[in-house]
Amino acid sequence: MPFNDTFLEELRSKNEISEVIGAYVNLKRAGRLYKGLCPFHGEKTPSFTVYPDTQSFYCFGCGVGGDVVSFIRKAENLDYTEAVKLLADRSGMAMPDSGYDDSMLKRRNRIYDMNKEAAHFFFSQLIDKKNAHALQYYFDRGYTFDTIKHFGLGYAPDSWDALKKHLNEKRYSNEELYAANLLRKSSKGTYYDNFRNRVIIPIIDIRGRVVGFGGRVLDDSKPKYLNTSDTLAYKKTNQIFAMNFAKNHADKGIILCEGYMDVIALHQAGFENAVASCGTSLTPEQVRTISKYTDTVILSQDADEAGRKAVDKSIGLFGTVGVKVKVINFTGAKDPDEFIQKFGADRFKALIEGAETDTEYKLLLAREKYDLTSNAGRADYVGEAARILSALDPVKRDIYASEIAEQTKVSKTAILSECKRLAGRRERRAKREINRSAMQMRDEKDKINPEKARYKAAALAEERVIAVLINHPDFLRTVEERLTEEDFVTAFNRHIFTVLKDRIAAGNSIHMSAMAQVLTAEELSVLTGLEAFGRGLSHPKQECLESIGTLKAEKQKTLKPNPDELSDDEFRELFNNS
Ligand code: GTP
Ligand code: MN
Repeated sequence: MPFNDTFLEELRSKNEISEVIGAYVNLKRAGRLYKGLCPFHGEKTPSFTVYPDTQSFYCFGCGVGGDVVSFIRKAENLDYTEAVKLLADRSGMAMPDSGYDDSMLKRRNRIYDMNKEAAHFFFSQLIDKKNAHALQYYFDRGYTFDTIKHFGLGYAPDSWDALKKHLNEKRYSNEELYAANLLRKSSKGTYYDNFRNRVIIPIIDIRGRVVGFGGRVLDDSKPKYLNTSDTLAYKKTNQIFAMNFAKNHADKGIILCEGYMDVIALHQAGFENAVASCGTSLTPEQVRTISKYTDTVILSQDADEAGRKAVDKSIGLFGTVGVKVKVINFTGAKDPDEFIQKFGADRFKALIEGAETDTEYKLLLAREKYDLTSNAGRADYVGEAARILSALDPVKRDIYASEIAEQTKVSKTAILSECKRLAGRRERRAKREINRSAMQMRDEKDKINPEKARYKAAALAEERVIAVLINHPDFLRTVEERLTEEDFVTAFNRHIFTVLKDRIAAGNSIHMSAMAQVLTAEELSVLTGLEAFGRGLSHPKQECLESIGTLKAEKQKTLKPNPDELSDDEFRELFNNS
């Protein structure tokens, strides 16, 4: 086992779970526990629960749970050892000298090193005279040399193996370079450079490490951009381009664009709070990260149909984490980069100052769709506007309703009562949605224990036994007098029971932080779910005994030979014996 119980115990006591999670989730106290919106799935009513008593968490919506380490693992996309290290650092604890598995950590650090070397190489190629056309490409886009250095921009030469040779000389193997997605492999198994004849934009994480690259063609050929695919060191859905710079300017809000080039142009023009997602549409993880640094985001996506869709999606996502949204509405240019080129920084600043709230933006889009001089057009507009307002609180609803009443000459009372009707409908639909997704999650969870569908009653009884045992380890002796792992029907629960029982018997900790080392993340989630369930039982021991009875009866059923499945010989034998 990688870490001993004493170390984990200290780690746990120095990293109070509600404090650690409180930095990610807005937690509200509810008696002895805390509740908040689950950071791991989209939800509007809190089903994410933190238990200070047992230092564990569990989401009743999506079934994710565990201890403080598993939370950090999932929230920061780290492996187990790295998550422990992060918490140790956070609380000023030294890591144990040896005895833990850090091979993953080493491989990941190796990728950071390779990437840094690669970034240096791409930069040196960019300033090499023979590649003057690449440097010219950036100058043509209006980037200064200072900007190029600031972002560490580069150029991947038109060669199948320039980077490969360079990094081989630095003693990085082809397999390692392949794992970093710096090389590709042909069907014959030969390795070649992934980025060729492209200008290169290094992607740097918040901690200043080069995690990947974006590469753009210098002309109009396709694909326009090539991005590092996910590696041990890079998960594109978690990464935000230029957040390493923008985080220091986030008090002015964060400007969210679509492309790397938009961000670079904005930084050069003095808007150092601009960021972009990395070649994906915005994800909940990215939104969560941004919400850690700012309470206002200024959406500055492209002025086309795709950009509008992106704005719509972003408004929804930022709404779930309580970040205020403003929308820049620019005309005369397709994206912020082009806007700055054409009209300059001052005009962009004016755009930010004049940015609409998300509601104003949505109303504006709606208004553009209809002809307000016709009755039908006004009716349709009021209908759509009421739908937008129905999501707001009563005060805001009232303010905007006055405005719309003025524009359309429809009475404010009528608009407000339509809002109310739609709000009721929205609420009912949201409730149905929550139920449905909870059911879906439950099905997903059942996939972890595939035998559960076939042996439902047995599996439920097994779960109860485990649920009681994890809350009342002192009850093990009574359980063991009546039940062994052989009595379990489903292999999944048998495994959890065996691990649990052996640890209790050996006097080892069965706290989630200890269990996290001997169970997979999925198993741990199930176990925390059961722990939470077991905590709520009013007569745990009685339930446990009953479940043992049920389980034994169910087990007998599975053992009883089913005549349909017997061979002729077996059947005859059975018959002869009776
Ligand atoms: P420029 O034409 O260089 O100004 O690019 P842009 O910043 O205006 O990019 P665009 O709006 O076309 O795309 C926005 C972002 O989407 C880019 O920064 C890339 O991250 C991503 N992207 C664009 N084209 C591609 C592509 O062909 N493949 C992939 N994987 N990503 C792309
Ligand atoms: Mn552009």
